[in-house]
Amino acid sequence: MNGEQKRVFSGIQPSGDIHIGNYLGAIKKWVEIATVHDAIYCIVDNHAITVEFDPKSLPIRSFEAARAVMACGINPEACTLFVQSHVPEHTELTWLFNSVTPLGSLFRMIQFKEKTRSALRKALSKKSGGARATILHQIKGVATTVLENAAQIGPDLAALDPTADPNEDLVARLNDGMGNIMQQLQVGLGVSNASAGLFDYPVLQAADILLYKAGLVPVGEDQEQHLELCREIAERFNRRFGNIFPAVARIPGQAPRILGLDGKQKMSKSLGNTIGVLDPPDMIEEKMARAFTDPKRLRKTDPGRPEVCNVFTIHTYFTPKEICAEIETDCRAGKLGCFDCKKIAAKHIDVALKPIRNRAKDLEANPKRVIEALDQGAERCRKIAGQTMTEVREAMGIGPGALKKSSIGG
Ligand code: TYM
Repeated sequence: MNGEQKRVFSGIQPSGDIHIGNYLGAIKKWVEIATVHDAIYCIVDNHAITVEFDPKSLPIRSFEAARAVMACGINPEACTLFVQSHVPEHTELTWLFNSVTPLGSLFRMIQFKEKTRSALRKALSKKSGGARATILHQIKGVATTVLENAAQIGPDLAALDPTADPNEDLVARLNDGMGNIMQQLQVGLGVSNASAGLFDYPVLQAADILLYKAGLVPVGEDQEQHLELCREIAERFNRRFGNIFPAVARIPGQAPRILGLDGKQKMSKSLGNTIGVLDPPDMIEEKMARAFTDPKRLRKTDPGRPEVCNVFTIHTYFTPKEICAEIETDCRAGKLGCFDCKKIAAKHIDVALKPIRNRAKDLEANPKRVIEALDQGAERCRKIAGQTMTEVREAMGIGPGALKKSSIGG
């Protein structure tokens, strides 16, 4: 890496088929900047194990994610591609970062709340009637106790005057009361089966980036809060142990946030509302046919509102500009119906994805190319990670090197 060149780092979870949200939000940008910067891209299997997973299929999913990323245009000759768990330093640095990460910052992470919510929904939909009732009873019990505890601290809260000398008993009682509420909320999280790993997920993400001292991170808008935490961790670490880590900036992708085919939630592997980058043409057409459009448009002759229609948004990323302009005019005039509009979108998505599918097929016939790329990538990453960890351990006074340098090691 020369002095001018900044290092880039980004990652993707091997938790299902890579979709057009991943492609437009991140991977297209990965490809574009791989030739300009020293770019390191990672299949983050350690992140994927924070929710339910099958150990037998995980390595295959990691391979498939790497194949899809390469099919999207990532050339391992021009950048570095590897699987996170092949470089154990990621988890070591996570632990060290845990010691400088405020719990309060982790509690603010929106993705944790979203993920526990969707895990809870999944648990409720899968369980038998009896088990579901148990979960619901538990939640009701937790919520009731939280309300009771909150009512109990009410008088002390009203009596607390932050401008007066502190009444220590009152402050201690308030603190205990809040502790009880916190404990109940933790039970609530327990009901949704959230793991400590899921809670700590953003710290692992910070370790991923900072292990390579990467300053640039191409990711979708949904990752901005995680990057803010990464900056906070780097600053706190540097302040306490010396200036080791750089400031980190997000590089936006082509699309900040692609909505799923439901037209409401973010396109996401876990929500089943995606178009995969490797989906065959008939599947693209079938999925697009189910996509939500302008909810107020009931008949073809109703004037459409492209500005609120997710299918039109998808058009803007795949369909040539002139055709998009025609679609917009005809939709507003009630001349082009949603059925035909979706068919046109499916056709243009297919045109864009066809070369990706073809490259994926080539790689399927030659899996060694993917495996070799991942092996070489991990080898390079282990070297860089090893250097950073030597610095970090020394700065924190841990590891054999730090002992040797101490007054006893002489
Ligand atoms: P993941 O696997 O959820 O998503 C991979 C990338 O795709 C982007 N993305 C989207 N962009 C636009 N619209 C969407 N609907 C959409 N869905 C996903 C994400 O922003 C991301 O850039 N935590 C990360 C993986 C990670 C990582 C890292 C990223 C782990 N360590 C270090 C950067 C640096 C994640 O779950 O991505």
